[in-house]
Amino acid sequence: MKGSPLLLLTAFSLLTTTLAANTTSPTPKRGLINPGNVTTGTIDLQTFLKSPSLTWVYDYTNEPPSPSSEYGSLNFVPQQWNADSASQLANTVEGDTNITHVLGFNEPDASGNGQSGMEPAYAAEVWKEYIEPLAAKGIKLGAPAVTGSPVGKVWLQQFFGNCTSCTIDFIPLHYYGTFEGLASHCGDIYYSFSNRTLWITEFALDNASEEDTLGMMQTSLEWLDGLEWVERYAWFGSFRSDVSNVGGNAAFLDGEGEVTALGRLYLGNITAVEGADQVSSGTGATSSGGSSSSTCSTGSSCVSAGWKVGVEVGHVAMGLALGVFVVMLA
Ligand SMILES: *[C@@H]1O[C@H](CO)[C@@H](O)[C@H](O)[C@H]1NC(C)=O
Ligand SMILES: *[C@@H]1O[C@H](CO)[C@@H](O)[C@H](O)[C@H]1NC(C)=O
Ligand SMILES: *[C@@H]1O[C@H](CO)[C@@H](O)[C@H](O)[C@H]1NC(C)=O
Ligand SMILES: *[C@@H]1O[C@H](CO)[C@@H](O)[C@H](O)[C@H]1NC(C)=O
Ligand SMILES: *[C@@H]1O[C@H](CO)[C@@H](O)[C@H](O)[C@H]1NC(C)=O
Ligand SMILES: *[C@@H]1O[C@H](CO)[C@@H](O)[C@H](O)[C@H]1NC(C)=O
Ligand SMILES: *[C@@H]1O[C@H](CO)[C@@H](O)[C@H](O)[C@H]1NC(C)=O
Repeated sequence: MKGSPLLLLTAFSLLTTTLAANTTSPTPKRGLINPGNVTTGTIDLQTFLKSPSLTWVYDYTNEPPSPSSEYGSLNFVPQQWNADSASQLANTVEGDTNITHVLGFNEPDASGNGQSGMEPAYAAEVWKEYIEPLAAKGIKLGAPAVTGSPVGKVWLQQFFGNCTSCTIDFIPLHYYGTFEGLASHCGDIYYSFSNRTLWITEFALDNASEEDTLGMMQTSLEWLDGLEWVERYAWFGSFRSDVSNVGGNAAFLDGEGEVTALGRLYLGNITAVEGADQVSSGTGATSSGGSSSSTCSTGSSCVSAGWKVGVEVGHVAMGLALGVFVVMLA
């Protein structure tokens, strides 16, 4: 879940929302978040299980799906939310031979609703006792999933400092904001933590118009699908617009549970929103350290600009320098 909001306005071009062809093939990286009681309301799980695009699911718990068929053919990824009932994690992994990956703590750098608020040193102790042993069983381990704010990166650096002998196979991260901000953040985290692969386990353009949200999603999906160091991703939007805590337009379903255009784009009923490749990530309220206030004029230049920002920014200080860099590329 999100940290405290920071409004960033960016210029944007118009989007026509003509819907293009259906797709029926699974997208290997694309996952479903079951937010459970993280947001209010219940998830319309059966609607999402019909999606031809989704391949994996997580629900912020270390408990096995109940019934075991709950998630159909989706690969279930347990998460050790905080230290509570950490001893359950090994049971869950042992009880389901389909489990291949495990996610660390949820937003431990923050203490709001839906965030686990843990000290890095303590988190490392819990990791060593309950998560690290799973590596010997062949399970791939994801670092704690920090917020997209600068505090999150510092937290993660301290965690690594306290966990030098730990097996950390990949880094899950959360990001709310524009495509450029997402791309920059991914590049920064990738290079800052020794080129470990990334999972984007929550992302969205929050509190933005429908057009901007569609454009940001489409540009992001193309970018993430094509990037070899991003293994998996999941948009934070698998709920109805009226219970969304990231703005109604980030949700896959409307208030009646009907799939929105955004939901169709993610869930695979449509592959493209015509005109979306002409749009930048647009006007957005970004809450988790969104760092770009510039834009790019076409989809392909957005993608390559984002890629270059992601690659080039590396260890360079975020903030103004990055914003200038994006402007230069745009
Ligand atoms: C998508 O597929 C459905 C069912 O096969 C079909 O009715 C619909 O017309 C298709 N939509 C588009 C935009 O091709
Ligand atoms: C979610 O619900 C479960 C069961 O009621 C409860 O144990 C848990 O604390 C809740 N989690 C959150 C984040 O509210
Ligand atoms: C593991 O996956 C197979 C194939 O999808 C499925 O038949 C089986 O029920 C799954 N096992 C569990 C415990 O979910
Ligand atoms: C370990 O974590 C604590 C915070 O819990 C931090 O103050 C300390 O600097 C970290 N150690 C290293 C070596 O990063
Ligand atoms: C990360 O990747 C970049 C570009 O491929 C390379 O220059 C750098 O040496 C890599 N860093 C590590 C720690 O592997
Ligand atoms: C975004 O929308 C949610 C409701 O979906 C609202 O609670 C939140 O305050 C909004 N944030 C901003 C920055 O407008
Ligand atoms: C795709 O969405 C259209 C419009 O909502 C619907 O008529 C069609 O049945 C859907 N197709 C599939 C395969 O879900």
